[in-house]
Amino acid sequence: MTSSSADAKQFRQLMARWATGVSVVTVPEGGRDYGLTVNAFLSVSLEPPTLLISLSREADTTPVLDRARVFAVNLLAFDQRAISERFASTISPEEKFADLRLSRGVRGAALLPETLGALEAEVTETHDAVDHRLYLGRVLRLHPGREALPLLFYHGRYAESDGVRSLSVNPA
Ligand SMILES: Cc1cc2nc3c(=O)[nH]c(=O)nc-3n(C[C@H](O)[C@H](O)[C@H](O)COP(=O)(O)O)c2cc1C
Repeated sequence: MTSSSADAKQFRQLMARWATGVSVVTVPEGGRDYGLTVNAFLSVSLEPPTLLISLSREADTTPVLDRARVFAVNLLAFDQRAISERFASTISPEEKFADLRLSRGVRGAALLPETLGALEAEVTETHDAVDHRLYLGRVLRLHPGREALPLLFYHGRYAESDGVRSLSVNPA
């Protein structure tokens, strides 16, 4: 670290004020499913539809995605906190997916039930970024889900757990 870097703790504290949605990224390989909770997800471009996710190089799913090159981003609804916690824990892939009624994307990625929807993508570029790896994906197929509020992550906590069940959105 150079002397011009901001303090890591203060960086974390300020970033905690940035609210995000929560997704579960799933990757199919050899008839098995892998996956993890991800909030480092954004839309990069509309033409062609392109998204970006950032995965820790420490995550078990990262080398799997390097091989499989296909993934789905499942957008969690406000009442799917347990799913988020499950996919953020260090249990086996089999345990993560146990008892979930999955459907499949066109390239085989697992689509979780009861989500807001899922985006299935093919990796087009990867970039090593410090201790993470960035994956750009061309969106192959959109899988609409249910109309519901999102699960939100803010200040290191889930907004739903604080009782936030309604958001007011200004009319267009
Ligand atoms: C709300 C939330 C968001 C997360 N976002 C990311 C993320 O964007 N990228 C990442 O690599 N890990 C993220 N994590 C941590 C991973 O989900 C966690 O390390 C997981 O156990 C990795 O699973 P794996 O080792 O089986 O791949 C997040 C965790 C939580 C609770």
